Amino acid sequence: MITVNDTECLVKSAGTDYSFKVTGSGHLEHLYYGESSERTHRDFPWRDAFPGNCISYDDKFPELFLENFPLEMSSRGKGDIREPFIEVVHADGSRTSDFVFSRTELSSEKPEYETLPGSYREEGQQEDGPWHLTVFLEDRSYPLTLELHYYTYDDCGTICRSSRLINRGSDNVRVLRLLSTQLDLPGNEYVFTSFHGGWAREMERHGTCVNCGKFSVSSAAGASSNRTNPFVMLSRPETTESSGDCWGFNLIYSGNHYEALEVNSFGNSRFVSGINPDSFEFLLGPGESLEAPEAVMTFSGEGFSGVSRNMHRFVREHIVRGKWKKKERPVLLNSWEAFYFDFDEEKLLGLAAAGKAAGAELFVMDDGWFDGRIDDRRALGDWTPDSRKLPGGLEEICRRVKALGLDFGIWIEPESVNRESRLYREHPEWSIEIPGKPHSEGRNQRLLDFANPEAAEYMTRRMEELLSSAEISYVKYDVNRILSDIYSQYLPPERQGETAHRYILGVYRMLRYLTGRFPEVLFEGCAAGGGRFDLGMLCYFPQIWASDNTDPVCRKEIQRGYSAGYPMSAVTAHVSASPNHQTGRETTLAERYEAASEGILGYELDLSSLPPEEFEEIRLQIAEYKKIRKKIVCPEE
Ligand code: GLA
Repeated sequence: MITVNDTECLVKSAGTDYSFKVTGSGHLEHLYYGESSERTHRDFPWRDAFPGNCISYDDKFPELFLENFPLEMSSRGKGDIREPFIEVVHADGSRTSDFVFSRTELSSEKPEYETLPGSYREEGQQEDGPWHLTVFLEDRSYPLTLELHYYTYDDCGTICRSSRLINRGSDNVRVLRLLSTQLDLPGNEYVFTSFHGGWAREMERHGTCVNCGKFSVSSAAGASSNRTNPFVMLSRPETTESSGDCWGFNLIYSGNHYEALEVNSFGNSRFVSGINPDSFEFLLGPGESLEAPEAVMTFSGEGFSGVSRNMHRFVREHIVRGKWKKKERPVLLNSWEAFYFDFDEEKLLGLAAAGKAAGAELFVMDDGWFDGRIDDRRALGDWTPDSRKLPGGLEEICRRVKALGLDFGIWIEPESVNRESRLYREHPEWSIEIPGKPHSEGRNQRLLDFANPEAAEYMTRRMEELLSSAEISYVKYDVNRILSDIYSQYLPPERQGETAHRYILGVYRMLRYLTGRFPEVLFEGCAAGGGRFDLGMLCYFPQIWASDNTDPVCRKEIQRGYSAGYPMSAVTAHVSASPNHQTGRETTLAERYEAASEGILGYELDLSSLPPEEFEEIRLQIAEYKKIRKKIVCPEE
């Protein structure tokens, strides 16, 4: 619930308080974020510091030194030399902004964002009192309005924040950064927990004590990426898994992100997060606005696991949506590690039949099913079934799999294109590349320019046709390269800094359409494994293929990393062959099941050629899993 009075804006969520007030100068002074308590929220040592050669705000407020003042949002130029929340180049070339309070608005509604996915509340999940606060700020010297939005989710002790910048003038402005959250904290004894890795080694946990200077994590991959996940935590040095203060943060965004903790010269800390400002630039024309993604924040006095519990519940209740939100997910059998590109209809049906006998409920035809796709060098972009492998097309294989008593699903990668494809030959201008310049390749493919509405619309229609062409129950939605040579042939030169952000907005538009058009279909996200494991994707996909690494020893560690910020209902995991295809390690079937059954279980090996005793073991595993799986999607029921 949120209350606003003359002295304070108070955002309360399940035993936590988040508060700020308007100063005489019109700035928003951050007061507190932590456990609700009777003690004063204004016990921070901010003003004790001797200002020395700091900048004094103005004649009326000569004692206001923004450099060491706890702010709800900060901009460049008026003495605050820490990480800004916003940075804008005005028409006159100045980069100084000064946003001051205008008014607040309280409501119990949350309109959808125009461009971005966001958290939501189902009917019946109302709180007592308003849960959406908008604070309107105006720049003192330029016609810009900044809205700060706050939403509370009391059932999971979570607060979301986002911002929107509106250009009310008659000139263009260049936005260099518009972040999503800022949290000024007293003192400099915070441990920054972040998750790093790469392909097949996602979510390695690191804790860095930041006593001075700045520590930041970010992605410049064009995706939230497997290099650094946007979920991070701040804690005190003495915080443990089950005790002590811990703040958790995430971002509902799948593109380049940025999270930083800066300690100023007075020993106070500032956390910020949002779209990565590095290489970002957005031209805002008269009357136009820019939305920043929603940031998620939670506090727990019960250590890291307290934050994890809040985040899990938040994701399950306020991010994942649609038919599959709380529904038991089918045990699937995927063709990838069984056959890779080398299959035909009969081989697939043999595998599916074995899957059915073992108790699987869904058969997934992975990569390799469309025309010319004999390896990863060709055919992405041309989504017609290969008539040699599938003589009766999708309809026939789907019909035959269903006749075996299994649901049928397919793998797609709509954002990508191979140069060796009809689509690329016909529309080279739809690919992200700098025309006439050498291009750096990733998995022999390029990305389609989803910043270009025509290209995005074309692929959306192709996918709609494809998903309508057979009774498809499940889609594995993949993307296997990151952005390089970033250039939209659709955007003018002065808008090239918008490409990566507009790309992801174009992808969201397609996902919104397809998941709305096919509400029954179970969509599973994938980006070469966990390359886009984030809350933006989870707004469309209830589950994500967490890693291409199916070695149970590695997988358990990867899953431990995810579990710090994401519920296991979002994590899909498969039992695969031994020795493992990624690591060569030999493990027992029991070890592989133990790891995979922590999440949404699937199988990804040639079940049709297993010794009978192993097949029987798998049959028993699946039967066992069906008894416990409800707990994974609904642990509280
Ligand atoms: C990616 C996915 C795999 C598989 C292949 C197919 O690597 O993560 O699971 O679908 O693509 O090319």
